[in-house]
Amino acid sequence: MPPSARALLRWYDQHHRNLPWRAPIGQTADPYHVWLSEIMLQQTTVKTVVPYYYHFLERFPTLTTLAHADKDLVLATWAGLGYYSRARNLHTCAQVVAQRGGFPHDIPNLKTLPGIGPYTAAAIAAIAFSVPVVPVDGNVERITARIFNINTPLPNARPLLAKLATTLNTDHEAQTRPHDFAQALFDLGALICSPRNPACGLCPWQQNCAAYAAGTAAILPKKLPKIVRPQRYGVHFLVIDKAGSVLLRRRPENGLLASMIELPGTEWHSTPWNENEILKISPVQTKWQRAGIVHHVFTHFSLELVVYVGRVTRFSNQEVAKGFLLPFSQILSQKREVAIPSVMKKCLTLGLKTFT
Ligand code: ADE
Repeated sequence: MPPSARALLRWYDQHHRNLPWRAPIGQTADPYHVWLSEIMLQQTTVKTVVPYYYHFLERFPTLTTLAHADKDLVLATWAGLGYYSRARNLHTCAQVVAQRGGFPHDIPNLKTLPGIGPYTAAAIAAIAFSVPVVPVDGNVERITARIFNINTPLPNARPLLAKLATTLNTDHEAQTRPHDFAQALFDLGALICSPRNPACGLCPWQQNCAAYAAGTAAILPKKLPKIVRPQRYGVHFLVIDKAGSVLLRRRPENGLLASMIELPGTEWHSTPWNENEILKISPVQTKWQRAGIVHHVFTHFSLELVVYVGRVTRFSNQEVAKGFLLPFSQILSQKREVAIPSVMKKCLTLGLKTFT
């Protein structure tokens, strides 16, 4: 028997999470809030997103303010959430949507917008516009794999799980509350049908769960072994002058962390740098102190950066021409208006510790 939407919605009415982008039960939320939260949640957990979400809305309370904002300020407000192409797309998308006078309500048109793929289009359509569709994210894949006891590992099982997920919302209750039904699935995945140790004893769908019956819930969905990320290495220099300014530079317009701010340094290579050689190509001539090592993981590689710190009385014009200066006090402030990615924040935090 297919699981009952009524049972899930009854559970959701009592146990739903109060998340800042959600409308009260039964109402649909502001499409701007739904879209922003969905983009933030694409690669990031709810717990991490919540403070960024508030901060972002404080700066850009409406779609129009975001559309008219400076790109650098948008990136700076996003900094820390990672995957910065999301922030660039967010800004472009806001401009397109503001121009056309609002978000489209249907999935095909939502999918034409920058940064909106099939999952996000379905989530916005369901949550903001009550389109009766099941958005298939990791939570929904896991729930579906368990309900139907699918043993094929991910990612191969994905098309089958997507097809089976469409059968979850066919009854009347789900069709009349698509926004609540979608979010009920997210909450079931987060609170009950969790990746490890699912709380099957509390689950409103326990009676309909083939994995529960087979005793396989905790090991589903199966996954093919992960690929090992290649390792890369780099060196970055934190130099500060007597007035408290730090030398920074902007990354190239294309590629990883495009146009964001970094400390001057080397390329990121697949072999460690010979540090004696490195000091010859440092951005200024000074006495360098090794502050330590920063580790960071990107989607396609792991990075190990050695951070050096040094002082100068003042920067020469030639040295400043390699980048730009920013007062030390602004660098780690929430109010700063330049986009410093997390990996560089780690380098700055480590380097600045040696000065204090
Ligand atoms: N994950 C993706 N979208 C979500 C939402 N709207 N609420 C909770 N978790 C989510």
